[in-house]
Amino acid sequence: MVKYSAPGKVFLFGEHAVVYGKRAIACAIDLRTTVEITSSRQGIRIQSAFKDEPDKNPYIRVALKKFQQCAAVDGINISVSSKIPVASGLGSSAAVTIATIAALNDEYQTNLSLDEIAAMGHQTELEVQGAASPTDTFVSTMGGTVIVPDKKKLPPITCGVVVGYTGISKSTSRMVSRVRTLKERYPEIIDGIMDCIGNMSTRGEELVAKNDYVSIGELMNVNQGLLDAIGVSIPELSLQVNAARSCGAYGAKITGAGGGGCMVALCEPDRCKEIATAIGKSCGDSFITKPTAEGVRKE
Ligand code: PMV
Repeated sequence: MVKYSAPGKVFLFGEHAVVYGKRAIACAIDLRTTVEITSSRQGIRIQSAFKDEPDKNPYIRVALKKFQQCAAVDGINISVSSKIPVASGLGSSAAVTIATIAALNDEYQTNLSLDEIAAMGHQTELEVQGAASPTDTFVSTMGGTVIVPDKKKLPPITCGVVVGYTGISKSTSRMVSRVRTLKERYPEIIDGIMDCIGNMSTRGEELVAKNDYVSIGELMNVNQGLLDAIGVSIPELSLQVNAARSCGAYGAKITGAGGGGCMVALCEPDRCKEIATAIGKSCGDSFITKPTAEGVRKE
């Protein structure tokens, strides 16, 4: 029996722009998905405690298919449990994909490196979703704070992190394709927005190194304005973002594809509770989370 877990993430900067090769910064959070593999006499079986399991199984199925290029897989039971809300911008798909590949790697002694696990995870997301940047799979594998496409680790985030959850599930591929259509119709306008978002990540890298959360928050607010401009915010997310800001967050924005899902606010550590309450009162749900340095790990 082997058991691996991998973390979810929040985007500080760069979702959507990263699909076009611009930079993004993401931070792993201490919500994890766990995958356990045991041997079985009944071929390959997948059991998942995800509420909408059919949505998750494609990731496991495709990850298995990719892994079968490394070893012949038969007679295993894969069982999944998760604390990460599904389809919410917190990287649940990447976490289940990475934990599955890492568990298979151990079970079949295939010696894949972390970089190879992250790359196989990215290929899996690409096949399932049609479009995917390496952000979620890389940060879930490595943990900590990362910048992509550089695939570099940055110093840890040490301020408070609060997540607002609208409870509205979204489809990453649908949101990515809506933004792509807008970009194709108005390239002279949307390309500039993507460049600008990428520049925020470049500036963000310096600010993370200095622990300058006031400036990071300010730029997160600008990033939110641009996400709104490309049509991925919804009224529920705006309500939560505004509530966090009014309550004194350094900054607040959508995390992930938008169209539902979650927002993230950075704040002073002792303001987390107040900000979580304010977000929850505005709409949906909220919770306090912590950045984690730990990527995929054996349980
Ligand atoms: O909502 P999530 O966690 O699937 O993140 C999507 C982020 C995008 O930049 C919109 C797409 C991607 O693959 O990076």
